[in-house]
Order: sequence, then structure tokens, then C-alpha cells
Amino acid sequence: MAIERITRKLMRSRVARWWAISLPIRLARISLDARFERGLGITTTSGGSGRGAGNSRALDGCSYQAVSLLYLRLMQRLLRGDRREVFVDIGCGKGRACFFAAAEDLCANVVGIDHSAELIEDAKRNLANLPADLAKRISFVVSDAREYRLPARPAIVFFFNPFGSDVMGAFIDANLAHFQRYGSLIIYVNDVHYHLLIDRKFRPIREFAARRFSIWRYASNEPVFDDGSSSVGNPNATGNSTG
Ligand SMILES: C[S@@+](CC[C@H](N)C(=O)[O-])C[C@H]1O[C@@H](n2cnc3c(N)ncnc32)[C@H](O)[C@@H]1O
Repeated sequence: MAIERITRKLMRSRVARWWAISLPIRLARISLDARFERGLGITTTSGGSGRGAGNSRALDGCSYQAVSLLYLRLMQRLLRGDRREVFVDIGCGKGRACFFAAAEDLCANVVGIDHSAELIEDAKRNLANLPADLAKRISFVVSDAREYRLPARPAIVFFFNPFGSDVMGAFIDANLAHFQRYGSLIIYVNDVHYHLLIDRKFRPIREFAARRFSIWRYASNEPVFDDGSSSVGNPNATGNSTG
């Protein structure tokens, strides 16, 4: 029959095979993300207003897309209980990674920064829906990554596809003294600019190459360099804000 022939032909094609493999994974991902959001009463999905997109492109940035729970679970597994005092999401959007870090108790405190005031507004709206004991451990700040200085304590610094190499390089350079001093970790999802880290003497301590997912640490024996521009000298600093 013609329909059977066409179906068989389609199934043999590469496109059909790709869909047959990727569709169940996509559906599982969507359902995992939705369950997490429902559980906390938050909305961090991408799309909708698409706010922050134009601004991000102009600044060598990527538009907002929430990280999948699959990646966040992978991060949790690869961290193997390795804790730091504060979790910082650079380019946090509506805050999904921050809410995960707090809910799963990856760190005692959580900070999300984004240069889009509208996305931070959405993140704060989500925060208001959380139970008070969880909400009080999370804060959101409007800041450009190039201006932001990490808090003066050991941190897990999270990047999910936030911006291009110019902004990434500027952020790392401005916070290099922090990484040297505190042994903070970088979680890098979709680690396309990993060479910037290698150039600055960071080393991957764990990798999941199939998903382009890596964890990095500063690994030089050279003396600590502090040009005074970082918050590392100020034990009370919690990072800069432009809004
Ligand atoms: C792919 S989204 C990641 C969202 C979030 N980290 C997550 O995992 O769900 C990238 C985010 O980086 C932000 N961004 C882009 N350039 C930035 C910059 N120069 N400074 C701060 N945030 C920036 C965008 O506004 C966007 O929300």
C-alpha cells in the first residue's frame, strides 16, 4: 500500500530517525521542567515576552532560555556533594538554576544576576511565591556581568550559555583574584568558550563531554594577584549592583 511504503521510507530517512530518538527525550525534559516549576509554584520557562533578548544580543549576550532540569540534575551529580558557601548564577534570567540550588541545598546562599531588569523582576516575582525559609536564602541583582564582582566567599559560579567570549573574558579577568583566593568552582553548561578558562590557568575537574558540560577550578601555583578592583578584600561584600 502507498501509505505503508511512504511510512517505511520516512522511517528509513535520517530526519525520521532523529525525531524518533529526540522526541521522547524532549518530552521527558519538558515534563521534568514542568514538574519542578509546579512543585515550587514558579514560572521560569523561556519564551513568552522574550524579554532581554534584544539587549543581550547588543552586548555579546544570548537571549533568555531557561536551563533544563536535566542539566541541573547532572550538575548535582557531578558536584558529588562538593559544597561552597554561595551559588551564583551569572545571567540568571527568571532564576531557575537559583531556585534549584536553594531547593536542593547545594549552597547555603544563592545569588542570581542578570543585566535585564525585566527578567530580574520576573525572578523576584517567583521568589515571592516560595516558602519564606527558602526565599530568604536567595537574592536577585540587576548587573552586567562585566561590572559584577563575586562575593568574598567560596562560591559555585554557574554559567548556562549566557554570553559570548568578550563578556566571558571580561568577567573572568575582573574576578580572577576571587577564583585564586577562594577556590571557587565554575559550572559551565554548553562550554563553548572553555579555551578562555584554560588560557587563564583554570583546569577542568569534572567533565561530561557529550553534553558539553564541565566543572572548573583555578589551578595555578602562582601568587595571588589582587589589583584592588575585586571584592575579595572586603569580607562584607556581596557583589555589585547596577539596579
Ligand atoms: C541562556 S540564558 C540563561 C538563564 C539562566 N542562567 C538559566 O540557566 O535558566 C542567558 C542569560 O544571560 C543574560 N545575559 C546576557 N548577557 C549578559 C550580561 N552581559 N550580563 C548579565 N547577564 C547577561 C541574559 O539576559 C539571559 O537571561
